Amino acid sequence: MPDFPTGFRWGVSTSAYQIEGATTVDGRGPSIWDTFAREPGRIVDGSTGDEACDHYHRHAEDTALLAGLGVSAYRFSIAWPRVQPTGAGPAHTAGLDFYDRLVDGLLAAGVDPVATLFHWDLPQALEEAGGWLNRDTAARFAEYADLTAARLGDRVKLWITLNEPFIHMSLGHGIGTHAPGRMLLFDAFPVAHHQLLGHGLAVDALRARTASPVAIANNYSPVRQVGDTDADRAAAQAYDALHNRLFTDPLLGRGYPDAPGLDPAVIHDGDLDVLAAPIDVLGVNYYNPTGIRAPEEGSPLPFEMVPLDGYPRTAFDWPVAPDGLRELLLQLHDRYGDALPPVQVTESGCAYDDVPDAQGRVDDPERIAYLDGHLRAVHEAITAGVPVTGYFVWSLLDNWEWAEGFTKRFGLVHVDYPTQRRTPKSSYAWFRDLARR
Ligand code: FCB
Repeated sequence: MPDFPTGFRWGVSTSAYQIEGATTVDGRGPSIWDTFAREPGRIVDGSTGDEACDHYHRHAEDTALLAGLGVSAYRFSIAWPRVQPTGAGPAHTAGLDFYDRLVDGLLAAGVDPVATLFHWDLPQALEEAGGWLNRDTAARFAEYADLTAARLGDRVKLWITLNEPFIHMSLGHGIGTHAPGRMLLFDAFPVAHHQLLGHGLAVDALRARTASPVAIANNYSPVRQVGDTDADRAAAQAYDALHNRLFTDPLLGRGYPDAPGLDPAVIHDGDLDVLAAPIDVLGVNYYNPTGIRAPEEGSPLPFEMVPLDGYPRTAFDWPVAPDGLRELLLQLHDRYGDALPPVQVTESGCAYDDVPDAQGRVDDPERIAYLDGHLRAVHEAITAGVPVTGYFVWSLLDNWEWAEGFTKRFGLVHVDYPTQRRTPKSSYAWFRDLARR
């Protein structure tokens, strides 16, 4: 592996609902994922995040795993329903106490805390008032950001407002495979705008409480146009606008692109200035490119997704395409030029069916090859002039993978869920050697 610039941030990522468990402990309120996971048929194995990795009680052990890994940063998320159990009102001290202990433990271990404020676990009470379809949720989010930064702003080293607002809009509100399970297709646009508005308001709230840098973590997927007709080209452009530009153009001061579903009535005067509050870092979550061609006649969508041939596949059936990460980083650089802040890859990783051998060891050569390829792609982008300053593996631990329940293992550390035993995989040792170097 070639050398990375001095100061490059080596990290791993997790999120609250996927690892914490303890969903009713210390006054935490219910979130939309608690509700959704209980609905029959929503989660492939019928599981919930009630226990997950029991990280709430085992955070000291997990911090020791981070220290052993030698990473310089740990990206976790804060559960809004721990801080405001009903999504409004004063900070709930017992909920914030948990993150206070976590942050202090990380700092003592020499690991920078990187906190995401919203990784999809909206307080259920806010959903009942319309959730992100309701403009007021943006103001609620800024209030929650303020309360959280009032407690942790002196120690968190990088704040991330939202995780993947595109996925929360499209899977959560467009096709309903994630919480809250709404199927609005392109009528989900208010969810995009209100999340971005909440982001902009939260940036201001954070700036008032902390000198640490502020970011957002977007999901990107370079589009591979399949077919060569004008209709295929139009389909590829529509998908690109929706997935790759809708949540980035306005943040970087360009206003909204011409994307399917865009409803100008939702955008109030002055909103675009709020959205474009300067950020210090753009978080990039990348898993795979998307194949797109023109839709069949009568399709409700202006594009059709098609599987991409010629790539190895993960256990999620996602193509392993490190070239897509290089392409995406170069595309961001070309597209936004000087308006692009430094980029950190805030998620990159893969699921495989990792099973301990007779000695209890977990060997995961595919994950090592995956990470090796993606880090080389990042290095190539840096060499080509893209300002990439960090890379976080998704994920530290095998965890509860949303609609896939416990069936997809993304961790550098294997978790045996019945016993909660943690076993570092061979990829953990590989990444440790790299991070330490
Ligand atoms: C991302 C999510 C993360 C995890 C990975 C596999 O979209 O941000 O929580 O589920 O995918």
